[in-house]
Amino acid sequence: MIASIIIVILLSHTIESSKFTIPEATIHDIQAAFKQNKLTSKQLVEFYIQRIRKLNPIYRAVIEVNPDALHLAEIADQQRKNKDPISRFGLHGIPVLVKDNIATKDKLNTTAGSYALLNSVVPRDAGVVKKLRESGAIIRKSKHD
Ligand SMILES: *[C@@H]1O[C@H](CO)[C@@H](O)[C@H](O)[C@H]1NC(C)=O
Repeated sequence: MIASIIIVILLSHTIESSKFTIPEATIHDIQAAFKQNKLTSKQLVEFYIQRIRKLNPIYRAVIEVNPDALHLAEIADQQRKNKDPISRFGLHGIPVLVKDNIATKDKLNTTAGSYALLNSVVPRDAGVVKKLRESGAIIRKSKHD
């Protein structure tokens, strides 16, 4: 009985993975969709902003969305169009959520979820954020990992 259930799950997963959907896509799938002009970074960011608006009242996981996210996505799309070498980087044009105790030197607050740190100014991006940006990622903030 248990074995047959596992087989059903594996089969349905195989069938599902043959069609591209953003929630199920890997970064590799998304980069391929960018290359084939099936998807833009702006569409991807818009999709996730909609998803955050829909699900955040339930999960309350995302504290802030970078107000520059759509603009950064448009820049990424333009760089891809112009075949800018940065557009070959693995995370180029991919939106990323980071926990709110990780410093980002941009319009996002870095509070570790505490009002005590609201409006504190961080000196620079945390090392991990610096590396994410260098790989082309678009940053947002979350309460969780
Ligand atoms: C940062 O916090 C301030 C104060 O609550 C808020 O007005 C501002 O919108 C926050 N920044 C972002 C990017 O959400």
